[in-house]
Amino acid sequence: MNQVIPAPVSVAPDRNGGEFRLTSQTVIQAERGAQRVGEYLAGLLRPATGYRLPVTGDRRSDGTISLALGRVDAQLGDEGYELEADRRGVEIKARTAAGLLNGVQSLRQLLPAQVESRSLARGPWTVPAGRIVDYPRFAHRGAMLDVARHFFAPDEVKRYIDQISLYKINELHLHLADDQGWRIEIKSWPRLTTYGGSTEVGGGPGGYYTQEQYRDLVSYAAARGIAVIPEIDMPGHTNAALASYAELNCDGVAPPLYTGTDVGFSSLCIDKEITYRFVGDVLRELAALTPGEYLHIGGDEAHVTTEPDYIKFFQRVLPMVEALGKKVSGWHELIKATPAVSALPQYWGTTNSNALVTDAVARGNKILLSPANKSYLDMKYDENTPLGLSWAGFIEVDDAYGWDPGTYLQGVPESSVAGVEAPLWSETLENSDHIEFMAFPRLPAIAELGWSPWSTHDWASFRSRLAAQAPRWTELGIDFYRSPQIDWP
Ligand code: ACM
Repeated sequence: MNQVIPAPVSVAPDRNGGEFRLTSQTVIQAERGAQRVGEYLAGLLRPATGYRLPVTGDRRSDGTISLALGRVDAQLGDEGYELEADRRGVEIKARTAAGLLNGVQSLRQLLPAQVESRSLARGPWTVPAGRIVDYPRFAHRGAMLDVARHFFAPDEVKRYIDQISLYKINELHLHLADDQGWRIEIKSWPRLTTYGGSTEVGGGPGGYYTQEQYRDLVSYAAARGIAVIPEIDMPGHTNAALASYAELNCDGVAPPLYTGTDVGFSSLCIDKEITYRFVGDVLRELAALTPGEYLHIGGDEAHVTTEPDYIKFFQRVLPMVEALGKKVSGWHELIKATPAVSALPQYWGTTNSNALVTDAVARGNKILLSPANKSYLDMKYDENTPLGLSWAGFIEVDDAYGWDPGTYLQGVPESSVAGVEAPLWSETLENSDHIEFMAFPRLPAIAELGWSPWSTHDWASFRSRLAAQAPRWTELGIDFYRSPQIDWP
């Protein structure tokens, strides 16, 4: 029972031992409101077990995995769950479907690794008897995927969604536009994708999501308890847009498409009215595609925008987001424009104090932590890592795991921390294999920092639980980095 990542709040193995055994007769009993979670669980378990695992609303006594809503301790909140296993069955209880999904992810990890096989595998399919009570430390546990530097097809994004959901990540931030490509269809500005999406770093063909494909990604993520936060970076990181529409440039001349990896050379034209028509149209279409609370409007590395222009730009753009009924998220530089207290600045620096962030916290903003030297999954593990960058340093597993989001930034108490995010920038990453090599095993480390109480934080325990995940990753076809810090089986 003690193998789960992220570490649960409390785990009590049954003192008499014993186990539940999943058999061909097992039924998944899902209360009203839990059927979708029941079907999701059945879909996870059927390929390897070959069992029928019918999902039913009928009450049974023995041989069930039951998913129950309501009737839980208030401390579990919206995302917590209780899981109880004995010889007769497994019961997961939560207040919401999101809580049940989190319980399902723990149940997966209590079953043998072969349960992750997508073809028939050998059991026995046992769950150790005992009880878990669990809820998250932070509400926001994110992963970011940069689909702009290299484009990732919808199936590649879904594959990553499946992988991050196993570790109770609940936000997927998609970096949808940058100098090298625009990846989301905007019907009122079609050349953004047909031209601006037509390449990527290195000159490959790029690509983009139609609005229909994007909605499908959003609902695929939602079925796994994950909200998508779309990012359109501005006013910098906008060469793909500037290349697509000459009129967005101050001089009226469209620059060429860009396939290199420099940053900080592009800017929307702050003094042209069409800039705000453009941003308004983009945000309106994006908001209509977004059931989640946040639109991320970038704001980082605007090196060719003067500070007064930067502030002028965001003082017009910030109210546009709010008028669409959404909250603002943005990189921490955005704090210069004094966003509302509902805004969520995302810290990506490499030092443990930042004056802008301290100011925002004093005004009442919560902060999302993604320090580049701890949580950036695109940083190399060491000097020999074939993929990735190293501008924020090398990040081995113990670096990714070894910091406390609740005390990391001076002047930012735990109560002002919304949570953590693990960004994955894709200058050097071209396919799912590359994504997986950089995200595993560090993504589970960041996920544990976001979910688990600090009292459970323990490198020796984490190392051993991480090693135990490896057979699971192998079943899932995840090509992970065999860090020398971990005693892999
Ligand atoms: C960033 O890494 N430029 C947010």
